[in-house]
Amino acid sequence: MILVTGATGGLGHETIDFLLTTTPAAEIAALVRDVSKATDLAQRGVDVRQADYFDYPALVHAFRGVEKVLLVSAVAFTDRLSQHRNVIDAAKEAGVKHLFYTSIQRSSNFVLQEVTESDLATEAYLKASGLVYTILRNGYYFDGLGYLIGSEVPDAEIRFTAGEGKVAFVTRTDLAAATAALLTSEGHDNQEYTLTGSEAYSFHDIAQELSTLAGRPITYHSSELAPYIAQKVAAGLPEPVANFFAQWGAATKHGMLAGTDNTVERLLGRKPTSLREYLKTTYFPEA
Ligand SMILES: NC(=O)c1ccc[n+]([C@@H]2O[C@H](COP(=O)([O-])OP(=O)(O)OC[C@H]3O[C@@H](n4cnc5c(N)ncnc54)[C@H](OP(=O)(O)O)[C@@H]3O)[C@@H](O)[C@H]2O)c1
Repeated sequence: MILVTGATGGLGHETIDFLLTTTPAAEIAALVRDVSKATDLAQRGVDVRQADYFDYPALVHAFRGVEKVLLVSAVAFTDRLSQHRNVIDAAKEAGVKHLFYTSIQRSSNFVLQEVTESDLATEAYLKASGLVYTILRNGYYFDGLGYLIGSEVPDAEIRFTAGEGKVAFVTRTDLAAATAALLTSEGHDNQEYTLTGSEAYSFHDIAQELSTLAGRPITYHSSELAPYIAQKVAAGLPEPVANFFAQWGAATKHGMLAGTDNTVERLLGRKPTSLREYLKTTYFPEA
C-alpha cells in the first residue's frame, strides 16, 4: 500500500491521479484533513484516511498497513518541522518501511526563510529515523510564477527581485508524474533527487517570451527588496506575504533554484514542460 499525504492539495492529488494509471486503487491510500474534500478519490476506490499532521495518534492509525508514504511537506508559515517529525515518527511506529519527502531544490546554500531551515531539519530527522528514505528536492513550480509576476500578461514591465538569476521551473503536473514513477519503481532507497525542468530561465527570458507571445515589448526590471515589498504592500498584499515573495527573488538571485537536473525528463521519458509552453497555455489560452 502506498499512502500519499496532502491528497486534497495540488501535488498530492495529481500524484494519486498518476498512481491510478499504473496501480490498482486498492493499493493506494490518501491522507486528508477533511474527508469531505476527497469524495472523488473515495469514488475511484482510493482508501481515504483522515489525520492532521499535528494529530499523532490519528497519524499512527492512518499509517497502519502502509508500506510507502509520500510526505507532502507542510505549508510555510506553520510549524513545519513539528508536523514533519510527527509524520516520520508515526510512520515508524505504524511499521511503514519507506518514506518519501518533498523538499525544495537547493542549488546554493541560500537560506530561504520559512522553507529551507525546516527542510534541512526534516531531512536530517528522516535520515536519522531508521526508515528507508527518498528525498525529492522539488524545483519551483511554474504554477507559482503568477505569484511573482501576476496572473495577467504584464502591460510593459515585469518587476521582481531576482536580479539576473535563473529558475529551473517545473510544472506541478510534471512533478506529480515523476513522483508517481518513483513511488512505483525500485532502486530509490536512501536516495536524494532534484526534480526540476530541463532548462533554467531568467526573468529576462520570461519577459522575452511574453513579448513574443503578446506581440509587444515587455521588459524585466530587477528591483531591490525594499521597494518591491513597499510596492506590493501598497497594492494590498500583507507585508509578510510581500516579503516572502521578495525572498523567492533573493533566492533566485543567489542561484538556489537554477540548477537543472535530468531526473524528471528521464522519469517522464520526454522533455518537461518548457517556459514557452507554460506561458502559452496559461497566459494565452485562446491563441
Ligand atoms: N516547489 C514549489 O514551487 C512549491 C510551491 C508551493 C508549495 N510548495 C511545497 O510543496 C507542498 C505541496 O505543494 P502543493 O502545491 O500541493 O500545496 P497545496 O496545494 O497547498 O497542498 C498542501 C496540502 O497539504 C495539506 N496540509 C497542510 N497542512 C496540513 C496538516 N497540518 N495536516 C495534514 N495535511 C495538511 C493540505 O490539506 P488541506 O487540503 O486540508 O488544506 C493540502 O492537501 C506545499 O505544502 C509546500 O510545502 C512547493
